[in-house]
Parts: sequence; structure tokens; C-alpha cells
Amino acid sequence: MQLPSVSLLLLAAALSVSARAPEKQKCEGNFNIKNDDDFAKIVPCSEIKGKVFIDHTKLTEADLPNLQTLDGCIKVISNAELETLALPRITTITGVVEISNNPQLSTIDFNGLQVLGKSLTLTANPSVSSPNFPELSSVGENVLVAGETKVTNFNYLPALQSVGKTMDIRGSFDTISLNSTLKAKNMVLVSSSKLGCAEITKNWTPMVEDKLKCFEKADKAHLTAGSKLPNGAITVQASTGVIAASVMLIAYLAL
Ligand SMILES: *[C@@H]1O[C@H](CO)[C@@H](O)[C@H](O)[C@H]1NC(C)=O
Repeated sequence: MQLPSVSLLLLAAALSVSARAPEKQKCEGNFNIKNDDDFAKIVPCSEIKGKVFIDHTKLTEADLPNLQTLDGCIKVISNAELETLALPRITTITGVVEISNNPQLSTIDFNGLQVLGKSLTLTANPSVSSPNFPELSSVGENVLVAGETKVTNFNYLPALQSVGKTMDIRGSFDTISLNSTLKAKNMVLVSSSKLGCAEITKNWTPMVEDKLKCFEKADKAHLTAGSKLPNGAITVQASTGVIAASVMLIAYLAL
């Protein structure tokens, strides 16, 4: 009498667990997405080990709602019609994220991303008004941002605490908001004339280990990611203050 009801209960429990638990699917390989059918193959993946290239496609939407871990990189380049790129559940990417030259792209959603192993590059996506990286706290190498003509207030990396190499942010920014605990090896900041270099160097020099370069009154010519800044750019060596102070101390001790 008791046995069947117990097994029924177990069956019911098993069914409800399988209904609730999200599908786990590991995918491995290099995914060279050229069209909707290629893209559909990676939609079920919760984990990808390999490279995802979405370049020169006619996709309008690239939504990977299941993806949580990418052991590899993702490059989304030159997609003329792409409007949305969303990886809302991703938490870790070991390699590079590059999103460049997507003229219609208006939504970039990496809502859960916390750790990025290599570099984040966002360039020439002129329709983006507010990319979404609210949790990103660590970038192993560089952050390169340029050519987002709609963004006038740079505030979309609020949790960023560490950048291993250079944080290079270029735009007609009237304000730049960064986490007060951020540390970067170098910084390059290009702003509009409303936000001058005097204020930028005052605010952000304490966050750099090595050099901070600044240029105000950005125009198009100076907005190419990673390019050399024009004459008139200001460079502040972060350690200058320390060196000056120690020279004075040595002079004082010599007396
Ligand atoms: C600064 O970063 C930390 C850790 O990433 C985060 O908890 C905190 O909320 C951030 N501060 C602001 C003002 O966003």
C-alpha cells in the first residue's frame, strides 16, 4: 500500500526538479555565425568553450539567454542590421569581447558579466545610447571605448574595480563616472569641452599606476580606439608626485 505512493511522490519530485532546473548544455568549438540557422545552434548553450564570431551577418537580434560561461571570446563585428546583442545571464568570459562597427546596434546587454579575462572593445557602434555592464568588476587587459556618438555621459561600467593594462575611453563625454575603487595601469580619457582635463586629471590620476593621458574637445579624428592622441593632449605621470616628494626629502636630509 505504501510503496506505490512513495514512488509516485518521488516521480512527482523528479518531474518538478527537471521542470525547474535550467537546461545545462555544454558546447565546444569555434562558432562562425553567418546567418540565423548558425545562430540557432548556439542558443541552447549554457556554456561555450571556443570562439564565437558574429561578423558580416544580416542578423537583427543576437540573444543568448542561456549562456552563463564563455571559455573563449566573442567578436561581433560589422553587422549592418544588428539592433540587439544580449547575453543577460553570462557571468564569466575568459577571453576578449569585441563589439565594433555595428551601425544599428542600440542594445548591448551583458547584465550579469562580472569577470572578463582579456579585453573589452566597443568601437564604432554609433546607435548605442546605454550599453549595459552593471556588474563587471574585473578586466584582465584593456578597456577600449570609442565612436559611440550617442553616449554623452559615460557611466556604464559602475562596478569596475580593476583593469590590468589600459582603460582608453574616448567620446564627447560631458561626464565620466567611474567606480571610486577602480585601479588601472594606464588611462586615456577623451571628453567634450564641457569636461576639461583639469577636472579629469584631478579626479582620476589617483586611480592609475602609471600614466594618465587626457584630451578635451574631442572631435571625430581623435576618436579612433587606441590611436595616438594629438598635440595638446595632457600626460600625467602618476608617480611624479612621489618622485618629487622623495627628491625633496633627500635634499632635506642632505642638509
Ligand atoms: C564599486 O564597485 C563595487 C564592486 O564591484 C560595487 O560593489 C559598488 O557598488 C561600486 N560602487 C558604485 C558606486 O557603483
